[in-house]
Amino acid sequence: MEYRHGRDAALLAPEAAVQSEASPCLGMLGGRVRRPVRPAAGLCRTECLNPFRVYLREHTMADCRPYCEWQTDPEVMKFADKPVQSKEEALAGLVESVAQQADGERRKYFMAVVLKGSDEMIGDVGITRNERGFGDMGWFLRRAYWGKGYATEAVLLLIQYAAERLNLKKIFASCHRANKASERIMIKCGFTLFTSNEGRLYYMLDKNTRPAFQA
Ligand SMILES: CC(C)(COP(=O)(O)OP(=O)(O)OC[C@H]1O[C@@H](n2cnc3c(N)ncnc32)[C@H](O)[C@@H]1OP(=O)(O)O)[C@@H](O)C(=O)NCCC(=O)NCCS
Repeated sequence: MEYRHGRDAALLAPEAAVQSEASPCLGMLGGRVRRPVRPAAGLCRTECLNPFRVYLREHTMADCRPYCEWQTDPEVMKFADKPVQSKEEALAGLVESVAQQADGERRKYFMAVVLKGSDEMIGDVGITRNERGFGDMGWFLRRAYWGKGYATEAVLLLIQYAAERLNLKKIFASCHRANKASERIMIKCGFTLFTSNEGRLYYMLDKNTRPAFQA
């Protein structure tokens, strides 16, 4: 796995050095939580104190196989607005995610969700930033990893990244009314319902009013 220095790497990579300091965002899951700081030279993986079982990293083209697997899984795409129709279409999405990393005007931050220990990529969380300083968030996990709390951990890590690195003022997320797992994730991560229609629920996390979103 690629190792990157700097605060971005500290937030995203498992090797990140951390100090024992309460973080309101990660504290949503309870217990003592540490705030990542710049990694020191020579740290190895076993010294990682990220409190969660997953970490986030940038996508690479080596993610192709698992990425296409879940993107073309009808069960994973059940509630998607525009389900991916083919492996080629899935691949095009991965190419775009990787290309965004080098974009000076980057707006899309789609990150691989990776299991500590095995370094297996189990899903994807993403946020798109608009010009008003708002973000729109989404998440997908491979089916084999549902129901273990991993998505909630990944979303909390991305919220922290959005607050600390992207300086987003509000984050929006929405789901189909029947998508109970996604709605539960939003609630567990501190989002509040602000509107709905026949088919969808719209949730929001506001930096000014929600302690879970403070950097
Ligand atoms: C949504 C998704 C990421 C959830 O992943 P996950 O790892 O299972 O999520 P978590 O385990 O962190 O949390 C799910 C929560 O929903 C709850 N839940 C799951 N199914 C539920 C249901 N049918 N009814 C009520 N609650 C449900 C779980 O019990 C858990 O809550 P808890 O921790 O209070 O028990 C995964 O199901 C997925 O990839 N779905 C397809 C893609 C998708 O719908 N993305 C969202 C688009 S808006």
